[in-house]
Amino acid sequence: MALLVTGAAGFIGSNFLLDWLAQSDERVINLDALTYAGNLDNLASLQNDARHCFVKGDIGDFDLLSRLLADHQPRAVVNFAAESHVDRSIHGPEAFIQTNIVGTFRLLEAVRAYWSHLVGEAKNSFRFLHVSTDEVYGSLAQGEAAFTETTRYEPNSPYSASKAASDHLVRAYHHTYGLPALTTNCSNNYGPYHFPEKLIPLVIHNALAGKPLPIYGDGQQVRDWLYVTDHCSAIRCVLEAGRVGETYNIGGWNEKPNLEVVHTLCAILDELKPRIDGQPYLAQITYVADRPGHDRRYAIDAGKIERELGWKPAETFESGIRKTVQWYLDNQSWVHNVTSGAYKKWVGQQYGT
Ligand code: NAD
Ligand code: DAU
Repeated sequence: MALLVTGAAGFIGSNFLLDWLAQSDERVINLDALTYAGNLDNLASLQNDARHCFVKGDIGDFDLLSRLLADHQPRAVVNFAAESHVDRSIHGPEAFIQTNIVGTFRLLEAVRAYWSHLVGEAKNSFRFLHVSTDEVYGSLAQGEAAFTETTRYEPNSPYSASKAASDHLVRAYHHTYGLPALTTNCSNNYGPYHFPEKLIPLVIHNALAGKPLPIYGDGQQVRDWLYVTDHCSAIRCVLEAGRVGETYNIGGWNEKPNLEVVHTLCAILDELKPRIDGQPYLAQITYVADRPGHDRRYAIDAGKIERELGWKPAETFESGIRKTVQWYLDNQSWVHNVTSGAYKKWVGQQYGT
């Protein structure tokens, strides 16, 4: 038995892999292109673990995927691989179209060919799980009901539009070809191995480096935060018991304005690692120009996965955010490697690219 997991050198994928192998001996084939966001340091603890097979490659490479599927005969494919940062999608949408849309299409084609040749129980029990985002639903006004699985898609950024397109492809492959696919739409994750381009790790990193803590616009945009291992446990639930063809929203009922999140991070840092000049980290907050097309509010109604699959998050925002700050304080060398370019250099030496 094996799983093929794409993008498992990234933030959520590596947490998923570590979590999976902590509770199961089922082998995982990890296909990751090692873009700037992919980092094998995240998986250092699995270096000599025969249950983890790492393959550097692109989800857009149909031939490679076909070979991997034929060689390893996975019982499921979980697709995390994506370009994931909204700001980067605004500066350069091309990579988002290539990976999130064309890449997902090629992956679906390879998986469809593999699945159509399976027989009996192997065919019946096969699953394709596509990991998506709440951003496909667009932006909510204050007081508006949280996103449910039937909320209309209204993506506003090149990133969310590319994810929406990939969700539609997955849906179409189920409806047209019968591919046993499932889609999850999750809210904002945070936790270990989060690349410091995203709000929470960026603020922790900048605070410790004495740099400004950039707040876009008025800082009153609301995100719904979920600790990353709770996302991982939800994906496990959907993989094992989700109804084929369905979508499941995943979230922690933790809506917070950005400014409040940054204040919380500053207060925890003041306590765990006070500034040497005795000033509060809040002093580093700097208001900067807003993100173009910035979505005002996301909120996930996670009622369906809770009712149907009995999933519940284990962490509160308070417990998760404290663990996260502590992890970054304890893992400064990881942060240094991903921010200094040392990791990129290592990839070049290791893979000759
Ligand atoms: P990430 O950017 O940290 O990691 C993405 C991973 O995919 C990296 O390891 C990268 O090397 C790999 N990758 C990129 N292009 C690839 C390609 N063409 N072929 C193979 N691998 C490729 O992203 P993340 O935050 O871990 O997000 C993972 C998934 O979860 C994404 O699909 C994202 O849309 C979704 N998601 C993220 C969040 C969040 O808050 N981070 C929330 C909901 C959903
Ligand atoms: O909602 C799920 C999505 O969450 C995922 O699909 C994306 O992959 C993930 O990147 C995340 O998107 P966001 O745009 O919400 O995350 P980000 O960390 O970039 O920003 C969070 C909020 O903080 C957002 O309102 C923008 C704001 N922000 C962000 C940065 C990087 C700032 O105010 N300052 C900053 O420097």
